[in-house]
Amino acid sequence: MTWFYDPRASYEHNLAHGPFGEFAERPRPASRPDVQRMTPPSLTFLGQPVHRPFGIPAGPLVNARFCAAAFSHGFDLAVYKTVRTRAHDAHPFPNTLAVHVDGDLSPARGATLLADDDLDSATSISNSFGVPSRDPDDWQPDMARAVAAASDGQALIGSFQGTRPEWHRRDSEAAYIADHVTAARLTAATGAPILEMNLSCPNEGTGELLCFDTALVTRICVAVKDEVGDTPLVLKLAHFATDAQLHALLRATSDIVEGYAAINTIPATLVDRTGRQALSGHGRERAGVCGASIRWAGLDMVVRLARWRADAGADFAIVGVGGVMGADDAVRYATEGANAVMSATGAMINPGLGQDVRGVSWPISHGV
Ligand SMILES: Cc1cc2nc3c(=O)[nH]c(=O)nc-3n(C[C@H](O)[C@H](O)[C@H](O)COP(=O)(O)O)c2cc1C
Repeated sequence: MTWFYDPRASYEHNLAHGPFGEFAERPRPASRPDVQRMTPPSLTFLGQPVHRPFGIPAGPLVNARFCAAAFSHGFDLAVYKTVRTRAHDAHPFPNTLAVHVDGDLSPARGATLLADDDLDSATSISNSFGVPSRDPDDWQPDMARAVAAASDGQALIGSFQGTRPEWHRRDSEAAYIADHVTAARLTAATGAPILEMNLSCPNEGTGELLCFDTALVTRICVAVKDEVGDTPLVLKLAHFATDAQLHALLRATSDIVEGYAAINTIPATLVDRTGRQALSGHGRERAGVCGASIRWAGLDMVVRLARWRADAGADFAIVGVGGVMGADDAVRYATEGANAVMSATGAMINPGLGQDVRGVSWPISHGV
């Protein structure tokens, strides 16, 4: 099976020539009568009518062609891969390897896992891209095309992140916040009806993820919301080890933003069969792992976010991400309180997942 994002080719090759496999073809007419009957959309997500609040999160949809293919294959939410305010190179190929995990991947920093190119049977993979971006002059018109590719009952979400101008200067914080604001403005200008701010990629050389710095995230959220106004803003989070840390972030930001997406990847040390670093290059000893082995962590975050939301009487959206490999996983996330569910690894392995999800009845636990 050829994946629509080809992990055996470079990011640049995917950008120039993808999507591949089934996403390169016209979708087969849905064979299920309940899928064919699905108009008009009966559900909403953050104000957008959707057939199913299900789709592909930031990452594999690297440009408008990928987003259009996702929509036409029945994924009703498509997140355009995270962009920056200026061009930024991808880490060298390879970026995506099969990661061999026995069961659930623990977030304990010590995890060392075998990674290789045995992608045909993979259910967990690495994601080591370094958040590449084209220049806004290039991605802005392309993201606008992706927005326009959504049919009735579908929506494009624009993902962005800030770039720290200089790592170690104290006055760089103001510039870092300003860069988030610029990224948000450039993304909103494409017409994307929902914005997602990525706070959970290994960030800008600090070693700590931005989402764990509640004070800085709060300042960024205030500034970004001031810029984008009513356009819904979702924060993309990592797995939080403690409720104390998660609750502090929610107390500080839940009145500012409209939602939280969790999770991104879980980091692990990746080695080849000889025990050497699997992904070459400085700083790539550890890489984010996604797929079936992190499902427990995505579900755990959704449960904790939903519990806090209920206890606080809050009204934000929860996007469940992580290890959704089949429609039953998506339903489980929604049952636990996710208002939307997304799959990156599972959708790459099974491009029919959007149609599969359209064919199941969707549990609505909390309307947003
Ligand atoms: C190829 C690839 C690229 C990714 N790039 C991004 C990105 O640019 N921004 C982001 O917020 N998450 C990115 N992610 C993380 C996914 O959005 C998602 O959080 C993670 O893969 C867990 O979902 P999964 O288990 O369904 O893969 C990427 C994931 C993959 C597989």
